[in-house]
Amino acid sequence: MQIAGCGALVTGGASGLGAGTVRRLAALGATVTIADVNQEAGAALAAELGERVHFIATDVTSAEQMQAAVAHATAVAGALHVLVCCAGVATAERTLGKEGPLPLERFARVIAVNLTGTYNAVRLAAAAMARNMANDEGERGVIVCTASIAAFDGQVGQAAYSASKAGVVGMMLPLARELARHGIRIASIAPGMFDTPMLASLPEAAIAALAAQVPFPPRPGRPAEYAALAQHMIENPMLNGETIRLDGALRMAPR
Ligand SMILES: NC(=O)c1ccc[n+]([C@@H]2O[C@H](COP(=O)([O-])OP(=O)(O)OC[C@H]3O[C@@H](n4cnc5c(N)ncnc54)[C@H](O)[C@@H]3O)[C@@H](O)[C@H]2O)c1
Repeated sequence: MQIAGCGALVTGGASGLGAGTVRRLAALGATVTIADVNQEAGAALAAELGERVHFIATDVTSAEQMQAAVAHATAVAGALHVLVCCAGVATAERTLGKEGPLPLERFARVIAVNLTGTYNAVRLAAAAMARNMANDEGERGVIVCTASIAAFDGQVGQAAYSASKAGVVGMMLPLARELARHGIRIASIAPGMFDTPMLASLPEAAIAALAAQVPFPPRPGRPAEYAALAQHMIENPMLNGETIRLDGALRMAPR
């Protein structure tokens, strides 16, 4: 799918990996809508990047708000061709903590944003994409989701986060198979350690310990490097149903 001239929607596009993707898609000539709960950062990024970048306050866990975001992205661009799902929350909480078992609602909240929120965006965007004219390859849309290497090597305290991201990985193949008849591809990126506000929210010692484990390059990834893979997923018609680790060969230790 050619990015220039297409309509794109980026959930979680106000910050970090999503913001890096918004910048790249806009630079490549897409009309981009940022859907994020963070109004201030989302509106500021849209204002900075000019008239082809829009912002709509959106909680990905809400069916109504996500539908409004899809409608907005479709209206401003004329059609929606690309969805990149970056909205997510990270938690590190033990199942058996000092105050007893983890309250169930804390587990459910992570699943609601990272897994159900991703699915919510995918299902509504796919419905809009299915109405597009197909290009020469028969493509009507491309969806890029964000998992995490925690889906595969989750650390102590990451049960909820890892489960939510493993859920994202698990739905790639069935969605690719189902959406094939509509000419819609879907794939996900499993980032390792990336330099974003989410990473910065971890304790400094935890960041240093993780950085020391990355074989090469021995540093956190940059949002532009995530965006480069998202771009490739959008542009390469053969990439479908897969999750690609983007992690400098990092395999996380138990803690
Ligand atoms: N940074 C990393 O090292 C790393 C590693 C692996 C996976 N990831 C994943 O990458 C994605 C982006 O993370 P990031 O590092 O850029 O974090 P970030 O905190 O910088 O950005 C996440 C964005 O999601 C938005 N968001 C949160 N809940 C939302 C909701 N309910 N509805 C709409 N928007 C919501 C936030 O407002 C924020 O703008 C997340 O899914 C995260 O789990 C990040």
